[in-house]
Amino acid sequence: MPALIVGNWKMNGLGEDIAEIAHMAGSGARSVWIAPPFTLIDRAVIVSAGAVKIGGQDCHANAKGAHTGCVSALMLADLGAGFVIVGHSERRRDNGESDADVRAKATAGRAAELEVILCIGETRAQRNAGQTEAVLTAQLAGSLPDDAEGLIIAYEPVWAIGTGLTPTLDDVKAAHAHIRGQIVARFGPNGHGVRILYGGSVTPANAADLLRVADVGGVLVGGASLTAESLLAIASSAP
Ligand code: PGA
Repeated sequence: MPALIVGNWKMNGLGEDIAEIAHMAGSGARSVWIAPPFTLIDRAVIVSAGAVKIGGQDCHANAKGAHTGCVSALMLADLGAGFVIVGHSERRRDNGESDADVRAKATAGRAAELEVILCIGETRAQRNAGQTEAVLTAQLAGSLPDDAEGLIIAYEPVWAIGTGLTPTLDDVKAAHAHIRGQIVARFGPNGHGVRILYGGSVTPANAADLLRVADVGGVLVGGASLTAESLLAIASSAP
Protein backbone atom coordinates (compact mmCIF):
# COMPACT_ATOMS: atom_id res chain seq x y z
CA MET A 1 0.00 0.00 0.00
CA PRO A 2 1.70 3.29 -1.02
CA ALA A 3 1.75 5.94 1.69
CA LEU A 4 -1.22 8.30 1.59
CA ILE A 5 -0.32 12.00 1.63
CA VAL A 6 -3.29 14.17 2.63
CA GLY A 7 -3.16 17.97 2.59
CA ASN A 8 -5.52 19.93 4.85
CA TRP A 9 -5.64 23.52 3.66
CA LYS A 10 -7.72 24.67 6.65
CA MET A 11 -9.02 28.27 6.11
CA ASN A 12 -6.51 29.01 3.37
CA GLY A 13 -6.86 29.30 -0.37
CA LEU A 14 -8.45 31.64 -2.92
CA GLY A 15 -9.19 31.03 -6.57
CA GLU A 16 -5.61 31.71 -7.60
CA ASP A 17 -4.40 28.85 -5.40
CA ILE A 18 -6.23 26.29 -7.51
CA ALA A 19 -3.08 26.34 -9.66
CA GLU A 20 -1.30 24.48 -6.82
CA ILE A 21 -3.83 21.65 -7.01
CA ALA A 22 -3.55 21.56 -10.80
CA HIS A 23 0.22 21.26 -10.40
CA MET A 24 -0.13 18.41 -7.87
CA ALA A 25 -2.55 16.64 -10.22
CA GLY A 26 -0.22 17.02 -13.17
CA SER A 27 2.81 15.71 -11.29
CA GLY A 28 1.93 12.04 -11.54
CA ALA A 29 2.35 11.69 -7.75
CA ARG A 30 0.41 8.75 -6.38
CA SER A 31 -1.89 8.87 -3.39
CA VAL A 32 -2.08 12.62 -2.88
CA TRP A 33 -5.37 13.91 -1.49
CA ILE A 34 -6.30 17.54 -0.74
CA ALA A 35 -8.98 19.01 1.52
CA PRO A 36 -9.34 22.64 0.34
CA PRO A 37 -11.84 25.02 1.94
CA PHE A 38 -15.47 24.36 0.94
CA THR A 39 -15.33 27.33 -1.45
CA LEU A 40 -12.71 25.68 -3.65
CA ILE A 41 -13.97 22.10 -3.69
CA ASP A 42 -15.83 22.26 -6.98
CA ARG A 43 -12.96 23.96 -8.80
CA ALA A 44 -10.45 21.58 -7.21
CA VAL A 45 -12.45 18.57 -8.38
CA ILE A 46 -12.40 19.92 -11.93
CA VAL A 47 -8.68 20.76 -12.12
CA SER A 48 -7.58 17.57 -10.39
CA ALA A 49 -9.44 15.47 -12.98
CA GLY A 50 -9.35 12.45 -10.69
CA ALA A 51 -5.56 12.52 -10.21
CA VAL A 52 -5.83 14.09 -6.74
CA LYS A 53 -8.75 13.04 -4.55
CA ILE A 54 -10.54 16.11 -3.18
CA GLY A 55 -12.31 16.16 0.17
CA GLY A 56 -13.97 18.29 2.82
CA GLN A 57 -12.48 19.39 6.13
CA ASP A 58 -15.73 18.85 8.02
CA CYS A 59 -19.37 17.98 7.44
CA HIS A 60 -22.64 18.27 9.31
CA ALA A 61 -24.07 15.12 10.89
CA ASN A 62 -27.38 15.51 9.04
CA ALA A 63 -27.89 15.12 5.30
CA LYS A 64 -29.96 18.32 5.04
CA GLY A 65 -32.10 20.67 7.07
CA ALA A 66 -32.26 23.97 8.94
CA HIS A 67 -28.57 24.40 9.82
CA THR A 68 -27.49 27.80 8.53
CA GLY A 69 -23.97 27.91 7.20
CA CYS A 70 -23.37 24.17 7.42
CA VAL A 71 -22.46 21.70 4.69
CA SER A 72 -23.52 18.05 4.66
CA ALA A 73 -21.53 15.01 3.60
CA LEU A 74 -24.08 14.44 0.86
CA MET A 75 -23.35 17.93 -0.49
CA LEU A 76 -19.62 17.18 -0.51
CA ALA A 77 -20.23 13.95 -2.40
CA ASP A 78 -22.50 15.82 -4.79
CA LEU A 79 -19.60 18.18 -5.62
CA GLY A 80 -17.36 15.24 -6.43
CA ALA A 81 -15.49 15.04 -3.13
CA GLY A 82 -14.23 11.60 -2.23
CA PHE A 83 -13.46 11.99 1.47
CA VAL A 84 -14.11 14.09 4.54
CA ILE A 85 -11.99 14.89 7.60
CA VAL A 86 -13.89 14.73 10.90
CA GLY A 87 -12.85 15.48 14.47
CA HIS A 88 -9.89 17.72 13.68
CA SER A 89 -8.62 19.18 16.95
CA GLU A 90 -9.22 22.73 15.68
CA ARG A 91 -12.91 21.88 15.28
CA ARG A 92 -13.03 20.18 18.65
CA ARG A 93 -11.44 23.33 20.15
CA ASP A 94 -13.14 26.11 18.13
CA ASN A 95 -16.56 24.50 17.72
CA GLY A 96 -16.76 22.42 20.88
CA GLU A 97 -17.17 19.16 18.98
CA SER A 98 -17.47 16.14 21.25
CA ASP A 99 -16.58 12.54 20.46
CA ALA A 100 -20.30 11.88 19.97
CA ASP A 101 -20.48 14.71 17.42
CA VAL A 102 -17.45 13.30 15.63
CA ARG A 103 -19.01 9.85 15.55
CA ALA A 104 -22.21 11.29 14.05
CA LYS A 105 -20.20 13.13 11.38
CA ALA A 106 -18.16 10.02 10.59
CA THR A 107 -21.39 8.05 10.21
CA ALA A 108 -22.82 10.75 7.93
CA GLY A 109 -19.66 10.69 5.82
CA ARG A 110 -19.90 6.95 5.34
CA ALA A 111 -23.61 7.19 4.54
CA ALA A 112 -22.68 9.58 1.73
CA GLU A 113 -20.07 7.04 0.55
CA LEU A 114 -17.15 9.31 1.42
CA GLU A 115 -13.97 7.91 2.91
CA VAL A 116 -13.66 9.31 6.42
CA ILE A 117 -10.45 10.55 8.04
CA LEU A 118 -11.14 10.62 11.78
CA CYS A 119 -8.66 12.69 13.83
CA ILE A 120 -7.63 11.97 17.39
CA GLY A 121 -4.77 13.16 19.56
CA GLU A 122 -3.70 14.25 23.02
CA THR A 123 -2.89 17.73 24.30
CA ARG A 124 0.50 18.65 25.76
CA ALA A 125 -0.94 18.56 29.28
CA GLN A 126 -2.39 15.10 28.70
CA ARG A 127 0.93 13.81 27.34
CA ASN A 128 2.84 15.31 30.27
CA ALA A 129 0.42 13.63 32.64
CA GLY A 130 1.06 10.24 31.02
CA GLN A 131 -2.49 10.08 29.68
CA THR A 132 -1.78 9.75 25.95
CA GLU A 133 -2.98 6.17 25.55
CA ALA A 134 -6.01 6.69 27.79
CA VAL A 135 -7.02 9.77 25.78
CA LEU A 136 -6.67 7.93 22.46
CA THR A 137 -8.64 4.98 23.83
CA ALA A 138 -11.46 7.24 25.00
CA GLN A 139 -11.58 9.26 21.78
CA LEU A 140 -11.77 6.09 19.69
CA ALA A 141 -14.40 4.53 21.94
CA GLY A 142 -16.54 7.65 21.62
CA SER A 143 -16.08 8.50 17.98
CA LEU A 144 -15.59 5.38 15.85
CA PRO A 145 -18.43 4.64 13.45
CA ASP A 146 -20.04 1.20 13.30
CA ASP A 147 -17.70 -0.42 10.83
CA ALA A 148 -14.20 -0.17 9.51
CA GLU A 149 -14.94 0.15 5.83
CA GLY A 150 -13.86 3.47 4.30
CA LEU A 151 -12.31 4.54 7.60
CA ILE A 152 -8.89 6.16 8.08
CA ILE A 153 -7.57 7.31 11.45
CA ALA A 154 -5.27 10.33 11.78
CA TYR A 155 -3.15 10.49 14.92
CA GLU A 156 -2.47 14.18 15.46
CA PRO A 157 -0.99 15.23 18.80
CA VAL A 158 -2.64 18.61 19.43
CA TRP A 159 0.65 20.12 20.63
CA ALA A 160 2.39 19.14 17.38
CA ILE A 161 -0.08 20.89 15.06
CA GLY A 162 1.33 24.05 13.56
CA THR A 163 4.08 24.28 16.18
CA GLY A 164 7.07 22.79 14.42
CA LEU A 165 7.23 20.20 17.20
CA THR A 166 6.86 16.48 16.56
CA PRO A 167 6.87 13.50 18.89
CA THR A 168 9.89 11.21 18.79
CA LEU A 169 9.66 8.41 16.27
CA ASP A 170 9.36 5.98 19.19
CA ASP A 171 6.41 7.95 20.54
CA VAL A 172 4.74 7.91 17.11
CA LYS A 173 5.33 4.17 16.89
CA ALA A 174 3.86 3.58 20.33
CA ALA A 175 0.78 5.70 19.62
CA HIS A 176 0.11 4.00 16.29
CA ALA A 177 0.54 0.55 17.85
CA HIS A 178 -1.91 1.51 20.57
CA ILE A 179 -4.43 2.80 18.04
CA ARG A 180 -4.07 -0.37 15.96
CA GLY A 181 -4.76 -2.48 19.03
CA GLN A 182 -7.89 -0.50 19.82
CA ILE A 183 -9.18 -0.70 16.27
CA VAL A 184 -8.62 -4.44 16.02
CA ALA A 185 -10.28 -4.93 19.40
CA ARG A 186 -13.27 -3.00 18.09
CA PHE A 187 -13.56 -4.29 14.51
CA GLY A 188 -11.78 -7.65 14.62
CA PRO A 189 -9.66 -8.63 11.62
CA ASN A 190 -11.14 -5.78 9.54
CA GLY A 191 -9.31 -3.42 11.89
CA HIS A 192 -6.03 -4.45 10.31
CA GLY A 193 -7.11 -2.81 7.05
CA VAL A 194 -7.67 0.63 8.57
CA ARG A 195 -4.93 3.03 7.58
CA ILE A 196 -3.43 5.19 10.33
CA LEU A 197 -1.95 8.57 9.34
CA TYR A 198 0.38 10.72 11.42
CA GLY A 199 -0.26 14.48 11.46
CA GLY A 200 1.34 17.49 13.15
CA SER A 201 4.21 19.60 11.74
CA VAL A 202 5.00 17.19 8.91
CA THR A 203 7.47 18.82 6.49
CA PRO A 204 9.64 17.70 3.57
CA ALA A 205 12.49 17.47 6.11
CA ASN A 206 10.86 14.97 8.50
CA ALA A 207 8.37 13.09 6.31
CA ALA A 208 10.69 10.29 5.23
CA ASP A 209 11.52 9.38 8.83
CA LEU A 210 7.89 9.53 9.94
CA LEU A 211 6.72 7.45 6.98
CA ARG A 212 9.18 4.70 7.87
CA VAL A 213 7.70 4.21 11.34
CA ALA A 214 5.76 0.95 11.74
CA ASP A 215 2.05 1.35 11.06
CA VAL A 216 2.33 4.91 9.74
CA GLY A 217 0.31 4.56 6.55
CA GLY A 218 0.67 8.15 5.49
CA VAL A 219 0.61 11.72 6.74
CA LEU A 220 -1.95 14.49 7.24
CA VAL A 221 -0.25 17.78 6.43
CA GLY A 222 -1.40 21.33 7.16
CA GLY A 223 1.02 24.19 6.54
CA ALA A 224 3.34 22.22 4.28
CA SER A 225 0.46 21.21 2.00
CA LEU A 226 -0.31 24.70 0.72
CA THR A 227 2.11 24.61 -2.19
CA ALA A 228 2.57 21.84 -4.70
CA GLU A 229 6.34 22.11 -4.31
CA SER A 230 6.24 21.33 -0.62
CA LEU A 231 3.53 18.67 -0.71
CA LEU A 232 5.12 16.89 -3.65
CA ALA A 233 8.47 16.91 -1.82
CA ILE A 234 6.71 15.12 1.05
CA ALA A 235 5.07 12.67 -1.38
CA SER A 236 8.36 11.89 -3.06
CA SER A 237 10.01 11.13 0.26
CA ALA A 238 7.61 8.24 0.89
CA PRO A 239 9.56 4.98 1.02
P1 PGA B 1 0.35 21.21 10.44
O1 PGA B 1 -1.19 20.79 10.59
O2 PGA B 1 0.96 20.26 9.43
O3 PGA B 1 0.33 22.62 9.98
O4 PGA B 1 0.97 21.02 11.78
C1 PGA B 1 -1.55 19.44 10.58
C2 PGA B 1 -3.04 19.30 10.74
O5 PGA B 1 -3.65 20.07 11.47
O6 PGA B 1 -3.63 18.40 10.12
